[in-house]
Amino acid sequence: MTKTNKTVLGLVAAVMMGTVAWGAGSLVFPSTARAGDAPACGSKDNPCPLQKWMRVNMGPALAANDLPALAKVLDKSGGLSPDPSWEWAAIAKAGGDAARKGDLAGAKASCKSCHDKYKESYKTKFRTKAVN
Ligand code: HEC
Repeated sequence: MTKTNKTVLGLVAAVMMGTVAWGAGSLVFPSTARAGDAPACGSKDNPCPLQKWMRVNMGPALAANDLPALAKVLDKSGGLSPDPSWEWAAIAKAGGDAARKGDLAGAKASCKSCHDKYKESYKTKFRTKAVN
């Protein structure tokens, strides 16, 4: 690994640790963000990693009714499961399979089913997890 890469990784790690530390603080003081603190993610302008990924990848594919693109991003989303005991990957796979068969309604159903089932737990436990 090059020196530059290490520096970049170090910076990323520092930023992430800052986010986690701030996140923990915000649990204790929910509405008292102090000036100078790094902003927590989740706002409109500063989405959390998966939130941002969804907006960039899922949103446009769905808006365009682009089945091949939906199949691709749904497949990819299956690999983003934060907990192997969750049905997350199966839901994503069912959506990807539906999109491949030309079944737009089936693909959309996987969005709803994963959101209904896991959005809240994800936001509570894994919100700042990096998405690659
Ligand atoms: C296997 C699980 C899963 C599937 C499938 C899935 N999502 Fe998501 N999605 C999530 C989770 C979890 C979040 C919450 C992330 C966060 O807010 O940190 C989310 C958030 C989003 C957001 C961000 C909403 C906001 O607050 O800004 C959009 C947009 C979105 N999803 C669109 C879609 C669409 C469209 C599909 C289907 C084509 C889809 N998602 C399929 C798990 C999934």
